This record gives sequence, structure tokens and C-alpha cells, in this order.
Amino acid sequence: MSTYKIAVLDGDGIGPEVIKQAIKVMDAIGKKFSHEFDYHFAPVGAVAIDETGDPLPEKTLELCRASDALLFGAIGHPRFDNDPTAKVRPEQGLLRLRKELGLFANLRPVAGYEQLTHLSPLRPERMKGVDMLIVRELTGGIYFGEKGRKDGGNTAYDTCLYTRPEIDRIVRMGFEAAGNRRGKLTLVDKANVMESSRLWREVTRELAGEYPEVELNFMFVDNAAMQLILNPAQFDVVVTSNMFGDILSDASSVLAGSLGLLPSSSVGAKVGMFEPIHGSWPEGAGQNRANPVATILSAAMLLDHLGLVTEGDAIRGAVNATLESGYGTEDLHPKHQVGTDEMGDRIAAAI
Ligand code: IPM
Ligand code: MG
Repeated sequence: MSTYKIAVLDGDGIGPEVIKQAIKVMDAIGKKFSHEFDYHFAPVGAVAIDETGDPLPEKTLELCRASDALLFGAIGHPRFDNDPTAKVRPEQGLLRLRKELGLFANLRPVAGYEQLTHLSPLRPERMKGVDMLIVRELTGGIYFGEKGRKDGGNTAYDTCLYTRPEIDRIVRMGFEAAGNRRGKLTLVDKANVMESSRLWREVTRELAGEYPEVELNFMFVDNAAMQLILNPAQFDVVVTSNMFGDILSDASSVLAGSLGLLPSSSVGAKVGMFEPIHGSWPEGAGQNRANPVATILSAAMLLDHLGLVTEGDAIRGAVNATLESGYGTEDLHPKHQVGTDEMGDRIAAAI
């Protein structure tokens, strides 16, 4: 029996209740495949601010560093969103966590479920064959460049800065992912306007020589936003900078029919972090209404990352089977509507 130490940062809003379902499902996997998952909970986000004044307490970070993987719920609370003067914000916890752990790559797979195509905002024929992976740079760019105010607070700036090594490592990851998938890589940028985008193109073009089996193309981000809606099936792997990836991944996430279905992983260092794409939905917290599937599928990516791919596949199979049998949370308008908890039970039972 192998034991894995899992840091669990369940965070704010619906975070704790969706994480609970993922743990249920991981425990079912542990039982079936003889693994032990040893969970260690720690605060992050608004809860951590309330407890300690810091959205990422030192103890939480230490725990993450000493774990095999990190399962993350959600963070954010409206009382901070509506206060532009707030000095500490829950989101700072997430950004620091990514930076401190060296998680420079955020992988967001987007694929449609056959039985849910009617939920997509796109016509079913446009959803046919949609299966893409967004590879978003996560620890650089405008999120982390110099920012501030001058002129007595009346001028504000955020800098988009990228170094060659930062671009090199993320674009390589894009090429390798494409090589393992359908062999197509699209670099999304704004090279007609931004100097940093021109460096991305330069580095990407140079790397292309090392991956002759991958077909490379370039697309401006405004066009990419349009293409994602017009013809999403054209994309295989999309590699892009931090901010563009943030925006495009939310846009593509609803193609599948619900934001509640899509998982993500943040990797690049020893400890990977796995979390649903959706936010903390404070209005829905504690009501047993949230869809736990995105978090459960994030647990599957966690297992893949630990080298337990059969186990990850078992989770994906159980999710498919459960959705196919018509069960789902309210966002899926299913034949048999169940709450968060029962959805977790059903998927765990399907393992
Ligand atoms: C995401 C989120 C975060 C981001 C926020 C919460 C800081 O939107 O993970 O996509 O912008 O990276
Ligand atoms: Mg986002």
C-alpha cells in the first residue's frame, strides 16, 4: 500500500463542499487500488484572512511544500470585490501560492460531453469534436510585472514583462502536449501591438524546429476569442500568456455546457496543484447545490500527475457513467436532479 500526502486548501464559498466530494471519490479509489491518501487541511483566501490576516499563511505554504500534491477548492468573497481600497485580498493568496511553488503552467482541458451538448450556448454541430487544452502561463506577465500608482494616485500602471526562459519553458510544454494529442499548437498573442508578444513569437518559432511533428500556427487574441465561438473544434493545444489564458479559458469553459464541469492543473514544480476552474460562488455556499464534477475531475488530474493514470481514468469513467445515467446537479438540468453530496456519493459508488 502506497501513501500520498495531500494538502487540501478548500478555501471559500462552495470550496469546502465540492472538495468533500472529491475526497469521497479519492477514498473510493484508494480502497479499490490500495492507496492511502493522507489529507492535511489548511486555510487559504478569505477564511485565512479572517483567521490570520494573511490570505496565504506561512503554515499553509509550508504544508504545501511538504506534500505530494495539492487539492484546491475556490477562493474569493464579494466583500473584497466591492472594496477597491482593500489592502489584503483573497486572490493574493492564490497568486502567491502559484509563484512560491513555481507552478508556471496551468492546464485547462475543454471537451464536450455528448449527453450535455444541449446545454452548450453553441449549436450542437459547432460543439462536434471540441477537445482542446489551454496551456496558460501562470507566474509571469501582467499579473506579476511592476504595478503601482504615481502622480498622487491619479496614474496607475501594470507592466507585462516576460523573459526568454519563462516563455521557453511554457511553450515547450505546449509543444509536448500537442505531440501527445492531435499534433497542433496555436500560440495566441497580440504581436501586432505588444513587444512581449513579439518575443513569444520569436521563441516559439525557434522551438518549432525541435518539434517537427507538431503543426504550429499563430493567432491574435481578439481573433482567438471569436474563433473559440465560431469554430472551437479547430483548436488542439492553445499556449498563451497569463492574462490572455485567464480570459480565454473562462470563455471556453462554458462551451461544454457548465462551468461546473471543468478541472485544471497547475504544474511545473515538484508539487502540483489541482482545482476546478470555477470560482467560490458565495451565494450558493452551504446549500448543497454546487456541481462537484469539476473538483472531482481535478482529483483525477492529481492522480495522473502522481503517475496513477489508471486511477485517474477510473474517476473519469465514473463521472461519465453517472452523467450518462441522467444524474446531475441543477446547473446540468438533468433527468434526475441531485444535490452536491449525492452527486459525490453516486460518482464514488460508480468507482
Ligand atoms: C483563475 C482566477 C484567478 C486568476 C483569480 C482568482 C486571481 O480567475 O484562476 O483563472 O486570475 O488567475
Ligand atoms: Mg480566471
